[in-house]
Amino acid sequence: MTRRIGILTSGGDCPGLNAAIRGVARAAYAMFDAEIVGIQDGYRGLIEGEWREMRRDEFSGILTLGGTILGTSRQPFRTMRVIGEDNVDKVKSMKKNYERMKLDCLVTLGGNGTHKTANLLSEEGLNVVSLPKTIDNDIWLTDVTFGFHTAVDIATDVIDRLHTTAASHGRTMVVEIMGNKAGWLTLYAGLAGGADIILLPEIPYDIDRVCEAVARRANAGKAFSILAVAEGAMDREEAAMKKKQRAEARAAMPYASVSHRIAAQIEQKIGVETRVVVPGHIQRGGSPSAYDRVLSTRFGVHAAQLIRDGVYGMAVGMHGHDVVHNPLREVAGKTKFVPQDHQIVQAARQMGICMGD
Ligand code: F6P
Repeated sequence: MTRRIGILTSGGDCPGLNAAIRGVARAAYAMFDAEIVGIQDGYRGLIEGEWREMRRDEFSGILTLGGTILGTSRQPFRTMRVIGEDNVDKVKSMKKNYERMKLDCLVTLGGNGTHKTANLLSEEGLNVVSLPKTIDNDIWLTDVTFGFHTAVDIATDVIDRLHTTAASHGRTMVVEIMGNKAGWLTLYAGLAGGADIILLPEIPYDIDRVCEAVARRANAGKAFSILAVAEGAMDREEAAMKKKQRAEARAAMPYASVSHRIAAQIEQKIGVETRVVVPGHIQRGGSPSAYDRVLSTRFGVHAAQLIRDGVYGMAVGMHGHDVVHNPLREVAGKTKFVPQDHQIVQAARQMGICMGD
């Protein structure tokens, strides 16, 4: 049995993409007669017809490599059916290129946007299998995404290192952690790094509660405080706004980000010296952790099994300790937010961590 497999990586990169690509390729080569086509820069390469035949040896030595050997790009799902100034019908082009490549199936590695386009292509009749990648851990019907735990390790290390300098200077430190919509990364890294205050997009904060928590620590003789703040954290007024209005208000605010605003407010309201640290894309860089190497490999192998069995239109995920697959249509278009009553949130509260409300 020969199967010709196209692979692409789409959206923001993360550690573990290459490990997953390697997992798909090695398992496919071992299970059946596989031919693999690498599509360049995600859906951009599929639209524009940029691909290459991959050699077997290209999948060696990449288990520990960060980023993606295939390149990636952001191609917003909302524009997929829109014909722009270039007059390109993107969906038609993707289908035509799938045929030109003579693919039996397409494996897409990506986050929420990637899954939506993967589902669109599946509905258009292509054979698609998708793997859940993102440091945000916000993909529906999977307990965990690859890249997440590596990012947790990196963000935790940032908080650990800030602890010592914050303690030496008796300062408050605001660490801005990636996650615009979902706060999983901030929650995990905040707890792992021993943050005193954790602010998530899912739990709107009240700046006075935040200042009280900092002041309480100062009054108890603790000269420093660490705040782990998700980049998408919002206060109660912002949370009450419509999405568009909130985006406009954010764009108009005289601060580089929410963390800078919070730091300025702490200084103004209680006079505590505060610094902001934004580790940014460092959280997505470098080698995957051992956990993510195993997870990515397992997801990749599962994708190869689905291809061997001719089971398509599926999103691979983790349920408990088992790798599973769910129909793409059930996964696409939904976001896995942190439930406000999640056990980890409850544990944080019970430890006396201020969640900003
Ligand atoms: O989706 C992953 C992510 O790292 C988010 O946490 C972050 O908000 C966003 O991507 C940043 O996007 P970009 O890399 O395009 O700046």
